[in-house]
Amino acid sequence: MELKILCIGDIVGAPGRKVLQEGLPVLVSKHGIDCVIVNAENAAAGSGLTDQLYQKIIKCGVHLITMGDHIYRRKEIYSVLDKETNIVRPVNLPSAAPGRELAIYQTPAGNEVAVLSVLGRLFMKTLADDPFAAVDRVLASLPKSVKIVVVDIHAEATSEKQALGWHLDGRVSVVFGTHTHVPTADERILPKGTAYITDLGMSGPYDSVLGRDKDRVIGTMRTAVPSPFDVATGDPRLCGIIVSVETTTGLARSIERVRFDGTVE
Ligand SMILES: [Fe+2]
Ligand SMILES: [Fe+2]
Repeated sequence: MELKILCIGDIVGAPGRKVLQEGLPVLVSKHGIDCVIVNAENAAAGSGLTDQLYQKIIKCGVHLITMGDHIYRRKEIYSVLDKETNIVRPVNLPSAAPGRELAIYQTPAGNEVAVLSVLGRLFMKTLADDPFAAVDRVLASLPKSVKIVVVDIHAEATSEKQALGWHLDGRVSVVFGTHTHVPTADERILPKGTAYITDLGMSGPYDSVLGRDKDRVIGTMRTAVPSPFDVATGDPRLCGIIVSVETTTGLARSIERVRFDGTVE
């Protein structure tokens, strides 16, 4: 049996949420998607997530949510992290950090899809533990019945993302990268059966610098004078991958990049 998972990159602000709302039903029906996973660390005005926006994203048809280094930026999310079972925090944060390390979605056909998220350490400000050891620890605790596992490596360095992909090859279904907001063209099935891509790309306004107003960013880069990096509006796109997984082994059969272009009024 085959199961299709749609993984969508960092939702950035209102343009990202709008393109998710418009694009998700189209992609789900066109490709026969069974499970939708999104990274929502930039959903609230470009940084963090709130209770209200969490509800809206789930209503769009999302089954599992990952976050990243901006996870605790908005305090409104803490109660969601405490009580909801479909959103995860990075596994290599301190053990007392709010949120769960693993979330499992059961499809209507009875297949379980587990997701976990991990932060990279290279060029990242968050003080995180060894991502390799942290993922290994959580995988060892996984119920044996769960065959399909998706890992979000939220990291700056392409090298660290690739290294984690190789480390997990054959042990998980999918390793996708987030955080850098730019889609990479290196999607492939690794030799032992794990689908891999270095970055899904953000879902948000591409007429921007990584989702932020480009004139503000250019100004600050040229003058060293700080300015608020508001979320941009133009050229919203939804970016991600669709992975087909064999349900008995949990290994990937195919991976393809997808993109949905929308407009913001
Ligand atoms: Fe991030
Ligand atoms: Fe991000």
